[in-house]
Amino acid sequence: MAKAKQHYTCQNCSATYTQWAGKCDACGEWNTLTEESVNSGIGSGPGKKLGKGRPAKLFELSGETIEAPRIISKISEFDRVCGGGVVNGSALLVGGDPGIGKSTLLMQMAAQFSRLGHSIVYISGEESVGQIRMRAQRLEADQTDVLLATETNVENILATLDELNSKDKKPALVIIDSIQTLWSDRVDSAPGTVTQVRTATQAMIQYSKNSGTAVILVGHVTKEGQIAGPRVVEHMVDGVLYFEGDRNHQYRILRTVKNRFGATDEIGVFEMSHSGLRQVHNPSALFLGNQDQQSPGTAVFAGIEGTRPLLVEIQALVAPSPLGTPRRAVIGWDSQRLSMLLAVLEAHCGVQLGKHDVYLNIAGGYRIQEPAADMAVAAALISSLSGKPLPAQSIFFGEVGLSGATRPVNHPLSRIKEAEKLGFKRAFFPKNTKEQNLKLDIEKIEIEELSDLAGKILVDQK
Ligand code: TYD
Ligand code: MG
Repeated sequence: MAKAKQHYTCQNCSATYTQWAGKCDACGEWNTLTEESVNSGIGSGPGKKLGKGRPAKLFELSGETIEAPRIISKISEFDRVCGGGVVNGSALLVGGDPGIGKSTLLMQMAAQFSRLGHSIVYISGEESVGQIRMRAQRLEADQTDVLLATETNVENILATLDELNSKDKKPALVIIDSIQTLWSDRVDSAPGTVTQVRTATQAMIQYSKNSGTAVILVGHVTKEGQIAGPRVVEHMVDGVLYFEGDRNHQYRILRTVKNRFGATDEIGVFEMSHSGLRQVHNPSALFLGNQDQQSPGTAVFAGIEGTRPLLVEIQALVAPSPLGTPRRAVIGWDSQRLSMLLAVLEAHCGVQLGKHDVYLNIAGGYRIQEPAADMAVAAALISSLSGKPLPAQSIFFGEVGLSGATRPVNHPLSRIKEAEKLGFKRAFFPKNTKEQNLKLDIEKIEIEELSDLAGKILVDQK
């Protein structure tokens, strides 16, 4: 056997070094190098002599296919995010900040699957059986057949699952809470280190592929927004879901980041209550303020998350600045994009904001990621500067270029339909938007240049 070698692995980017250093050269982080040994198991790298291999079976690409069988929870917010249910034998990673509600979500999902007749094993390395039972009672998940274990050793977990298999009680789904607590006998490093997490993940993935049991791994995210330590886990699993939200608000979003069996960019919206998470079927209502009392500086943006429309309120406050360099503060949108939009407003619309503080906030703690919000943000800014509310019951969407020209964005029809469903009467969107000729009751106002928008919203007051 090869002699055990020590090396140092960066816990942030998993770069390896033979010598310790204070700073990782690869990612620039300080104090992230930890000693780990590479005597065996996955990731042992070169060093061992290559043995003689067995040839793998070769297939033709044009063979028979079958639609991957899935277990479906009938909780549509969850199923949609997984691409229509959890695929048998797949491995999913659910990441999120500590305390955001991952354990709560997965306990509820475990109970739901169990109620539908699937056998589920929930393995926790973080809480005691008593704590988990207490939570299950609160979530009304206790009267189900979910099996519970508190174990952190990978070999023991696999032995437990093998025993179930041999008794013909193979589970449909195993939930591991969390991947950072797992450790394997095969490596010497401490739990939570890159080597341990990678080895444990590899072992669980192998189990899921061999047995056909789906595995959901929970992972804590570091403050930088990465699954603690290893990004490698994300590459290994079939799907990555992020559970996010602002802890001061009650809503939570489950977002698909990677999915080998379906679309990404889907979201599921949940609301945290005293008795656990509830799915929100109409998330637009959550992010909209009172539409009857329009105040200057608020505009409604018709956004798209994945395949699904979502209306969000954008709030802007523009006020004369006492400072030489006015303040720009943004919550929930890209601050670079705001700077660009302010420059376009000044250059092409004659809107002077150089001596004004500008604050922009997206209601409900939501984060907008698409450039389609440009027109809505511009409308909110103009409205706040002029002190006039925007035309009532209006939505805005569209991208703005540096020349001040608007650009059509994707899914215009679903955006408009969602607005119509919620009782909006007017839609402002870029000229040349494809669905403009469709028969809809909503009044459609096409905008070619950002300066047209300024003119329209300030003149068309009713
Ligand atoms: P938890 O699922 O333990 O978070 P994670 O596993 O992501 O670390 O969620 C903990 C938070 O959720 C905690 O702050 C309390 C809150 N919570 C509720 O508001 N209602 C509930 O019914 C439950 C179980 C938790
Ligand atoms: Mg937890």
